[in-house]
Amino acid sequence: MTTVNVTPRGSLTEATALRQGVLCEHRDSTVLLSLRNQTGYRLRGVTPGILGVLERLSRHAVPTDELAAGLDAYQERQLTRVLERISPFLARSLMYRGAELMAVEATAPAEPYDVVDVPTDTPVRLSKFALLRRREGALVVETPLTAYRCVLRSAEAASVASALGETATALELASAELPAEAVAAVLGHLVGAGFADLGTRGDGPAVFAADDDEVLRQWDFHDLYFHSRSRLGRTDEPYGGRFPYIGSIEPLPPVKPAPPGEPIPLFRPQLTDVLAKDPSLLAVMEGRQSIRSYGERPIDAEQLGEFLYRAARVRGTYGPRPDQKMPYAGSTRPYPCGGAAYELELYLTIRRCDGIEPGIYHYDAQDHCLRLVNADPGLRQNLLDLGSLSTGGEAVPDVLITMTSRFQRLSWKYQSIAYAVTLKHVGVLYQTLYLVATAMGLAACGLGSGNSELAERAFGLDPLKESAIGEFLLGSAPQTRPLEESARHATDWRPGNDPQWQQEVRHLLP
Ligand SMILES: Cc1cc2nc3c(=O)[nH]c(=O)nc-3n(C[C@H](O)[C@H](O)[C@H](O)COP(=O)(O)O)c2cc1C
Repeated sequence: MTTVNVTPRGSLTEATALRQGVLCEHRDSTVLLSLRNQTGYRLRGVTPGILGVLERLSRHAVPTDELAAGLDAYQERQLTRVLERISPFLARSLMYRGAELMAVEATAPAEPYDVVDVPTDTPVRLSKFALLRRREGALVVETPLTAYRCVLRSAEAASVASALGETATALELASAELPAEAVAAVLGHLVGAGFADLGTRGDGPAVFAADDDEVLRQWDFHDLYFHSRSRLGRTDEPYGGRFPYIGSIEPLPPVKPAPPGEPIPLFRPQLTDVLAKDPSLLAVMEGRQSIRSYGERPIDAEQLGEFLYRAARVRGTYGPRPDQKMPYAGSTRPYPCGGAAYELELYLTIRRCDGIEPGIYHYDAQDHCLRLVNADPGLRQNLLDLGSLSTGGEAVPDVLITMTSRFQRLSWKYQSIAYAVTLKHVGVLYQTLYLVATAMGLAACGLGSGNSELAERAFGLDPLKESAIGEFLLGSAPQTRPLEESARHATDWRPGNDPQWQQEVRHLLP
C-alpha cells in the first residue's frame, strides 16, 4: 500500500475525487468502476501501485499532486493513462486544511473548465440559471449552461454558494473557518464551471455581462433547465424508456377509471357516413385556420359526439405484453402517443351545446360518453372566461376543452423525458382536434396557456396525479369565416409559397 502524504494544514489544494455515486471495487488485479450500479468499467491487470491510488480515491479526495506519491516513473505514466481512461468517474475537487470543500463533476463529456482567478474584492453572484438541490445525500449546484455539477461537500462551501443569492465578494464571505483566499478559490471553480457570474465594480453597483446578453436574457430559468434535463447531451440522469418502477409500483390502467356520475351517451358516427361527406386531407390541411368567432346557433350534441369519436375515442385496449417491451396495458386511439400510454384526458366546459346542458364534463373515451364532474356555474364561468382571455377576449366559445395528463402513465416508463413527452402529446392532440374540427366545419382554436389550479379544483383532481396541460376552444362555425386573406391586402404582406391554396380549397370544406 502506498504511503499517504498528509496535506499540510492551512493549505488550499486542488484534488481528485470519485464523483457522486461511483463505486470502485476490485478483485485481485481487476477493478470495476460503476456509476450508481449502472455504468460499469473494468480495468484489468492493475498493478498494486495503481490499485493503492484507486483505493485511496474510493475513500476520500486526494490532492492531485500527491496522487503519484510513492510511484516510480513507469507507474506514474501508467497512472496518467488509467486516470485518463476513468475520467468520467472522477471529479475535480478542492481541499482546504486537508478536508474536501467541494467537487465538480462532468455530467457529460466536456472539456475541463478553467478555474477563474477571482480577486477577493470582486463581486460574484449565483447565475440566474443555477439551482441548489439535494441529490444523493449531498447539496449540489447545477446549471443547464454547462455540463457540470458541483457537489458541496462541506458546510463552508455550502455557505459560500448559498450566500451568492446576493452579490458578494470573497472578502465579504470570509469567515473564521474559510479565509478570503479559500473563498476566492471556491468562487474560482463556481465561476469557471458556469455556476456563478463574475462582475465588475465601478463607482456604482456591480455589473454582470450576463445581464447584457440578449440570448441569455430571453431564457427563463425553468425552460432552460427543463430543456437540458429532458434531452440527451448534458444530463447524466437515467434517461428514456427504462421502466424504473416495474415490480415495485403497479402501472396505471390504460383508461382512466370513470369518475362517479351518470353517463351521458354521445352520438356515434357511422364510418360510411363520414367517408361520404369528408373533405380530402389536402382541403382540411390547407383550409384549417384558428377561428375565434362562432355561429348564431351553437354546436350540437351530434357534432360534439362525432368530433370526440373521430379525434379521441378509445378504439381498444391490449396488453400487458412483456415480450414486446410493453409490461403495461396500452390502448389505441386516432392520434399517436409515445409508448401507447394515452395519458391525456379531456374535460369539456360547455357554455352552449344544443342537446347538452351547460356544465363541466369528463369525456370517457372508452364508453364514449360524458359525465358531469362539476355543476358549479361560477367555476364553469371562470374556466370559460380564462379561455376567452387567452384570445384577448375575442372568443366566447361554445366549449372549452381542457387536456389533463395522468403523469404516472408516462413516468412509470420514461425517465427524464416524461413531462416533455406529455407536452408533445398535447401538440399531437391539438392538431388532431384542429383537423377533425375543420373537416366537420367547426370553429377551433388552440390555446397556449391555462390555469392548472383552477382546472384541478373544477375537475376534482389530485394535481400530482393529474393536472391540466392544454386548452382548446371549439364551437359552431361563424356565418362568414374570418378572412385570413385580409392579411394579404395589408401593406406588410409578403407572399410565400402558394398562399392562394387556402382560399382555393375553401369550397371543398363544409
Ligand atoms: C400551441 C398553440 C397555442 C396557441 N395559443 C393561442 C392563444 O393562446 N390564443 C389565441 O388566440 N390563439 C392561439 N393559438 C392559435 C394561433 O394563434 C394560430 O394557430 C396562429 O396564429 C396561426 O394561425 P392559423 O391557426 O389560423 O393558421 C395557438 C395555437 C397553438 C398551436
